[in-house]
Amino acid sequence: MTSSPHSLARQPINIAIIGVGNCASSLVQGLSHYRAESNDHLGLMHWDLGGYRPCDIQVVAAWDIDRRKVGQDVAQAIFAKPNCTQIFCREVPEQGVKVEMGHILDGYAEHMADYPDDRTFLLAEEEAQPSRSDIVKRLREAKVDVLLNYLPVGSQEATEFYAQCALDAGVAFVNNIPVFIASDPKWAARFESAGVPIIGDDIKAQLGATIVHRVLTDLFAKRGVKLDRTYQLNTGGNTDFLNMSNRTRLKSKKISKTEAVQSVAETRLEDENIHIGPSDYVAWQNDNKVCFLRMEGQLFGGVPMNLELRLSVEDSPNSAGVAIDMIRCAKVASDRGIGGPVHPAAAYFCKHPPDQTTDDRAYEALEAFINGEGAVALAAE
Ligand SMILES: NC(=O)c1ccc[n+]([C@@H]2O[C@H](COP(=O)([O-])OP(=O)(O)OC[C@H]3O[C@@H](n4cnc5c(N)ncnc54)[C@H](O)[C@@H]3O)[C@@H](O)[C@H]2O)c1
Repeated sequence: MTSSPHSLARQPINIAIIGVGNCASSLVQGLSHYRAESNDHLGLMHWDLGGYRPCDIQVVAAWDIDRRKVGQDVAQAIFAKPNCTQIFCREVPEQGVKVEMGHILDGYAEHMADYPDDRTFLLAEEEAQPSRSDIVKRLREAKVDVLLNYLPVGSQEATEFYAQCALDAGVAFVNNIPVFIASDPKWAARFESAGVPIIGDDIKAQLGATIVHRVLTDLFAKRGVKLDRTYQLNTGGNTDFLNMSNRTRLKSKKISKTEAVQSVAETRLEDENIHIGPSDYVAWQNDNKVCFLRMEGQLFGGVPMNLELRLSVEDSPNSAGVAIDMIRCAKVASDRGIGGPVHPAAAYFCKHPPDQTTDDRAYEALEAFINGEGAVALAAE
């Protein structure tokens, strides 16, 4: 746990949320959980990060498109169906912030209409959708510091729409989903020239399938074991998995998850020797995600070995444990006048950062950034 030299500079961090789904629910529950002085720091990577504690973060605006959430206070919307993540903090006080109707675009996939109401999104069709200038105005009025994107996978147009709103309003953008914004050189350059920080893309959970697979792949490389073949099969029963059961929405998710592992392999695997992705929707699993991982390799003398691992995690708190640090890194970058990708944070916290490196190296760069060093690309060091 790191304490910072800037610990006296405490002020609130105003966040806005796009998509009040399971990940947002865990994050907002966490803000209340860690606000209570009686709760210890268990489950956090940092208590004080650059002078900011979790309890310095407050939600000041939120958008969704589900009729059970739009118009509700954030404190109620986070527990509305189809959210199904484990409740670890039921006592979330009224936030005084109503969820507003968002701009739908490609956030809603047609196949979602084929499932029971409790399991799927129900569009708030009566509500007028806001324009870009409406959202920019709201971001400015609410004095938002950091805008978090929690849209469903495959929301290319909607993500670009909200990213443009962040740019126009001069608000830092945290892109939790696998639509390439921070890692797209054109978008990154636009954030850089506007002097607006961005951290993305595709949040890498606290202790999820990706980081475990990456660390093991790095271990194979460091221990001289040739990795021949690997798969990572994931099942889950939340709306994220349901949305991803339409394979046409998965292109960038597959790239993001596969590259996260390929990038730390000693030599790239042939496409047919690596299979990574969400594999099935199992409704009764709810927000529990199970990963089945297999790695086959050759050690000394070319003698074969293999490793099988099963990981079971609650998906959304697993992301919130990382989001709570990404938010604070984005604010620290804003405070320091940094625009464009915050490379150390992206490399440590995201599956598809602009600049990939090992998690050990990303960790060192992140701690150095928190302690006052720059946010340059790791490759440029
Ligand atoms: N859990 C993790 O560890 C993890 C890791 C990496 C990425 N992610 C990504 O984070 C994102 C959020 O995950 P989640 O589990 O909270 O998903 P979710 O399905 O629970 O929530 C998505 C929310 O977005 C809303 N929405 C849809 N279109 C919208 C629009 N146009 N405007 C505003 N709101 C809209 C939905 O109504 C829903 O409330 C997903 O893309 C997921 O893949 C999660």
